[in-house]
Amino acid sequence: MTKIKVFSAPMAGVSDYPFRQILRQFGNQILFSEMIGVETLVHAHPKTLKMMTFQKEDNIVVQLVGANPKHMAKAAAIVSDLGVVGIDINMGCPVKKLIQNHSGAMLMQDQDLACRLVEFVKKSTALPVSVKTRLGWENSQDILSFAPRLVSAGADQIEIHARTKQMGYSGKANWSALKEIKLPVPLVVNGNIENSTSAQMALEQSGAEAVMVGRALLGHPWLLTEIETGSYPKIKMQDLILCHLDLLLSHYGHAGLYVVRKHLAWYASHKKGVAKWREKMYLEENEERLKNLIKDFWEE
Ligand SMILES: Cc1cc2nc3c(=O)[nH]c(=O)nc-3n(C[C@H](O)[C@H](O)[C@H](O)COP(=O)(O)O)c2cc1C
Repeated sequence: MTKIKVFSAPMAGVSDYPFRQILRQFGNQILFSEMIGVETLVHAHPKTLKMMTFQKEDNIVVQLVGANPKHMAKAAAIVSDLGVVGIDINMGCPVKKLIQNHSGAMLMQDQDLACRLVEFVKKSTALPVSVKTRLGWENSQDILSFAPRLVSAGADQIEIHARTKQMGYSGKANWSALKEIKLPVPLVVNGNIENSTSAQMALEQSGAEAVMVGRALLGHPWLLTEIETGSYPKIKMQDLILCHLDLLLSHYGHAGLYVVRKHLAWYASHKKGVAKWREKMYLEENEERLKNLIKDFWEE
């Protein structure tokens, strides 16, 4: 069986250093960081600096979000010194705050600025520069002219979340809308890819050469490897979850106990008795007792 090329999607509040370490236990795929705001990065905001763990990691692409070409170029130069393998620019996020700041998905509405961002970043780094965007604002055909413009500006790869900005995160991703895009650089399809079968279908329908997986990784961090190789790795859930908790505690201190809750809910989502267990787990403030709750629930 031929290997499928697969990337993890950037997910704010999810793809942090501990989650990437968990993904890394299963394979050596390229992992995208959560988006990093260039304004907070160039102003060395402590919360942003906490995200800059890249020098300890392999095969990381850092995603930047912003609208100021000079600041984005500066941020790209800073990040490039940390041993990452690529810089990605967010041109697809529909969050209101980003739209108001003229960044994220808003860049699909200002293609001149979008191209300037790519040009500035290309000048500031020797690393490959990619762009993650959507099919369009409202119209799925927009990407047909936007993607080639980004490539002419210097983009080395385009990842497309196969929905429009208006669709947000719902509705079926339209993989075949990518079929008409002809680029001299790799095209990556994203949206609704949940297993090997859907990855294969997305590749066939889109003509893309790689897939990017987001939400399906929540609670299933082995999925990149499962899609890549077509085989299901052996997993001891209790060990995996306790390890994730320890990584979060070591990265965030006691606050890791709150960050882990959403992950615990995702890990347990298909398990019997989850509702009752979730109630108990959400109330637990003590690290050792939480570990015992996990051990009891995941008794194998
Ligand atoms: C919690 C969450 C956070 C996200 N954060 C980002 C982000 O920081 N940058 C980005 O380009 N996309 C972000 N996305 C979008 C995903 O990368 C992806 O494009 C989208 O979820 C569709 O893929 P999926 O169906 O595989 O989840 C986020 C999605 C979710 C659910």
